[in-house]
Amino acid sequence: MKVLFCVFSGTGNTKKICLHLSEALRALGHETDLYDIKNEAPMPETEGYDCLIFGYPVHAFNAPKAVTKFLKKFPKGALPYYLLRSEGEPSKLNDAAGIGPKRILKGKGYTLAGEFSYVMPYNILFRHSDKMAVRMWQAAKRRIARDALLVDALGGETKKVDPLRRAAAFLFRIEHPAMPLIGKTFHADKKKCVGCGKCAAVCPMGNIRMDGRPKFGMHCVGCMGCAFLCPADAVHISLLDPWRVNGAYPDEGDPATDGEICRYLRKTYMNYFHESEEL
Ligand SMILES: Cc1cc2nc3c(=O)[nH]c(=O)nc-3n(C[C@H](O)[C@H](O)[C@H](O)COP(=O)(O)O)c2cc1C
Repeated sequence: MKVLFCVFSGTGNTKKICLHLSEALRALGHETDLYDIKNEAPMPETEGYDCLIFGYPVHAFNAPKAVTKFLKKFPKGALPYYLLRSEGEPSKLNDAAGIGPKRILKGKGYTLAGEFSYVMPYNILFRHSDKMAVRMWQAAKRRIARDALLVDALGGETKKVDPLRRAAAFLFRIEHPAMPLIGKTFHADKKKCVGCGKCAAVCPMGNIRMDGRPKFGMHCVGCMGCAFLCPADAVHISLLDPWRVNGAYPDEGDPATDGEICRYLRKTYMNYFHESEEL
């Protein structure tokens, strides 16, 4: 089987999962290609593929605006597809992030084969401990091994979202029109910014222009690539600055023990880890 991954990833978590899943599928004898969803990038060709996997992070309980925009332009077809999401917390509300993509892809003729979710460290809100990040990655690797076998058999489960969660997630879609306005007011700290241009290079929307320091345009989707990956932690994210997270997490080292799981949604993370470790 030939599988095409179409991936949007602001700070690398989703892409890391897709690359590992791609490797696992190759080990099972499949061919894979990976397309990065970016503003203005030409649409990928789907001819010759047997299965599609759309990977993206959950943004405010929804798919990022860039993903919705991409899917609306995606060509019609009849292939089976998977939705693969990475999220900062194992919340059922995050399943609502599949509603928009499923509606668009159904309208285009595609058939949903399954949905996969992986908990990865937060790139906004608060910084998970390094140990939590390691335990998350260990859990993700187990799930990837299981999910590769599901894709191999074109099997999988889909997620149902109850009306209350649908309504709550719908309200959070305010993020889509709000982010370009908030993103326009992002700025680099004059003292810390070294003008390296990394923020502009990583922005999937091509929204940052370098003029000594970065200048932010009106196409921000809030992926946090600029602030998270800045080597000098110089990018201020305006109203969202109290939630800014900077710097890559390790994926090797000591994992958090049960007693070291963060206090925020402690039980939910614990259940997710235990469930993953039983796989
Ligand atoms: C604007 C924004 C909103 C987010 N909203 C949620 C959310 O609603 N639920 C959640 O679990 N994680 C949320 N996250 C966390 C990301 O989904 C998570 O860190 C993800 O792994 C990032 O993937 P990436 O590195 O591929 O961009 C949000 C992140 C951002 C930047």
